[in-house]
Amino acid sequence: MPDLAQSIQAALSERFGERLDVDSTLRGLDELASLAGRRVHRRWLEREVAPDLLRLLCACALSAPSKRDLQQSDILIIREKAKRHAIAELLPEMPWLSDAPVFLVFLANGRRLPQIAQLRGKPFPNDHLDLFFNATVDAAIVLATFLRAAEAVGLGCCPISVIRDHARVIGEMLALPDKVVPIAGMCVGWPAEASGITARLPLGLTVHEERFDEGDLAAQIDAYDRRRAALRPFRNQREPERFGRAEFYGWSEDKARQYATPLRADFGAFVRAKGFDLE
Ligand SMILES: Cc1cc2nc3c(=O)[nH]c(=O)nc-3n(C[C@H](O)[C@H](O)[C@H](O)COP(=O)(O)O)c2cc1C
Repeated sequence: MPDLAQSIQAALSERFGERLDVDSTLRGLDELASLAGRRVHRRWLEREVAPDLLRLLCACALSAPSKRDLQQSDILIIREKAKRHAIAELLPEMPWLSDAPVFLVFLANGRRLPQIAQLRGKPFPNDHLDLFFNATVDAAIVLATFLRAAEAVGLGCCPISVIRDHARVIGEMLALPDKVVPIAGMCVGWPAEASGITARLPLGLTVHEERFDEGDLAAQIDAYDRRRAALRPFRNQREPERFGRAEFYGWSEDKARQYATPLRADFGAFVRAKGFDLE
């Protein structure tokens, strides 16, 4: 079997714990190989990302499909060191942010459509949850497409949704007007080291045929926890003083502990304060 098909199979086997058939005569195996083996990066070389390259990648990302051709997503580029550091200071738990030569913010823009209605002298009776939802979905697709484009040219990226913990402050810093909210940031740079593949839940849980079927959820999660721990165990346990020290600490224990504390419970209030009607 040629190398590409083999490397896709190896990456997906590590990712999902399943051997998938890969037809070595398929077109686009190089793109599949980069998707199958992708991973986030959190360490960068001290090398700038040329503005022209970044613009090219933004253009490719914004070529993504857009719901009803409404084009409700924007990208904000932050290169200025002082601004990046000001954001990084809000997130000391993520030092990789201040090291990245470029930081992007992907925006859901629910503002342009009502502005266009006004420009064209038309009513806008669609100021409800769907406006926020459509803009957010578009922004997420643009983010994912940017990631793919950046990785295709050898850049390393790490999306940063934790900026939403400080949405109001960052929104003011970036002069975000009403009905424009950040969905996530993204560190972009030339990777300084190869990070590893992160195992995903088995396809038996996340790909459904004809009807939704969880199967034996507990058994599948348990098997996933053990497979993942064998590849890359968690280094630390969250809040042992609250939850005790687990003999076996897997992904599900980590996620259950992580979400046993309210996180970003004020985000809805921020989005409403930004003028979105979420009814
Ligand atoms: C929308 C989104 C937000 C994320 N936010 C953060 C973040 O705030 N900080 C961080 O270090 N990683 C963040 N990540 C990266 C994930 O932690 C990472 O994708 C996950 O651990 C799986 O690793 P992999 O992408 O290498 O497979 C985010 C990823 C996505 C898709």
